[in-house]
Amino acid sequence: MSTSVKVAVIGAGFMGSMHASIFAQSPGAKLVAVVDQNLDLAQTIAAKHPGCRAYGSHDELLAAETLDLISICTPDNLHRDAALAAAAKGVHLFIEKPIASTMEDGEAITAAADKAKIKLSVGYLLRFDPRYAQARRLIADGKIGDPIHLYARRNSARTEGPKRYGGKLPLALHVTVHDVDLVLWMLEGQEPVSVYAQTTDKLLGTSGTQDTIGAIVRFSSGTLATFESAWSLPAGARHMIDARLELIGTQGSFEVQCGDSGLYFADAASSREIDTQHWPSFDGVVRGDLREELQAVLRWIRGTDEPLATGRDALRSLALTRAMMKSAETGEIVKL
Ligand SMILES: NC(=O)c1ccc[n+]([C@@H]2O[C@H](COP(=O)([O-])OP(=O)(O)OC[C@H]3O[C@@H](n4cnc5c(N)ncnc54)[C@H](O)[C@@H]3O)[C@@H](O)[C@H]2O)c1
Repeated sequence: MSTSVKVAVIGAGFMGSMHASIFAQSPGAKLVAVVDQNLDLAQTIAAKHPGCRAYGSHDELLAAETLDLISICTPDNLHRDAALAAAAKGVHLFIEKPIASTMEDGEAITAAADKAKIKLSVGYLLRFDPRYAQARRLIADGKIGDPIHLYARRNSARTEGPKRYGGKLPLALHVTVHDVDLVLWMLEGQEPVSVYAQTTDKLLGTSGTQDTIGAIVRFSSGTLATFESAWSLPAGARHMIDARLELIGTQGSFEVQCGDSGLYFADAASSREIDTQHWPSFDGVVRGDLREELQAVLRWIRGTDEPLATGRDALRSLALTRAMMKSAETGEIVKL
């Protein structure tokens, strides 16, 4: 590998532009290129980072550049093509969550990475939120005992997710999958065995998504996990993302409260909460969990062991999330 990790970002939208900014500012990394099917957008983002080139497709990128790492930030159903092309060139992969929108695509990506012997990780940035990481330590340190029940909530306003992803992404694949990854990560060694889920559709049906999903999952050791995600809070709701994770065990319990960013802005017309955790950006620097995660990606490319989600982890979270969706569609308990 070159002295600096040579990185390209594919997909220069909401997430990709932040990935580009963080890689460009990371010691030990060189942001070589940004790709977007909207070449104007790729050029605009590339122009912010000296020495960064712009391309309109991953094929043009791979034909022109020698890279160590590609970060894929295209929509979920388009991860596969870019991932397979990068793997064929032996370039390590970091892919925004979920790994793909179908198991078939996810399995094709992990198989291609295995065949090419490249590294593959998927962007579950909440693993880099110290609150969840510390909670997981409590389990590992034996403070919780045998987990009995988990409850994971992630509710946000109808003006955020549905506006951006409505009609393109099911709520579960975009939102619940974060908590599914966290719960599978916390319950290391346990396998989900059955799931029952229901959705509601009173408000957002016309935008092609669900208001709420509720799911109950049973694990191999008898542990129960309850998931609740919503894209239906009113615009004026106090929290941007009302998130909570609770675990009750035979020895102890924990409660991770992520609803409150701790920063509220109000003027005569309105009030709003400002992100201080996931990707707060100020003084030209994107910070927070996303920055921590991408720094870990760079260290991992150099050979360290990091708490990143592997391709296999991401396949497990996709499989369980898709089972929730199937249960909600059929009204049946899905056995895994
Ligand atoms: N980790 C998180 O918390 C988090 C949050 C939001 C989104 N995401 C994930 O990040 C990924 C991107 O989401 P986003 O919100 O940035 O979407 P976005 O729509 O803002 O950006 C996607 C970009 O990809 C480009 N694109 C589409 N097809 C392309 C192709 N074939 N080649 C090159 N560029 C192409 C689009 O023009 C667009 O600019 C998705 O997988 C999404 O689920 C993760």
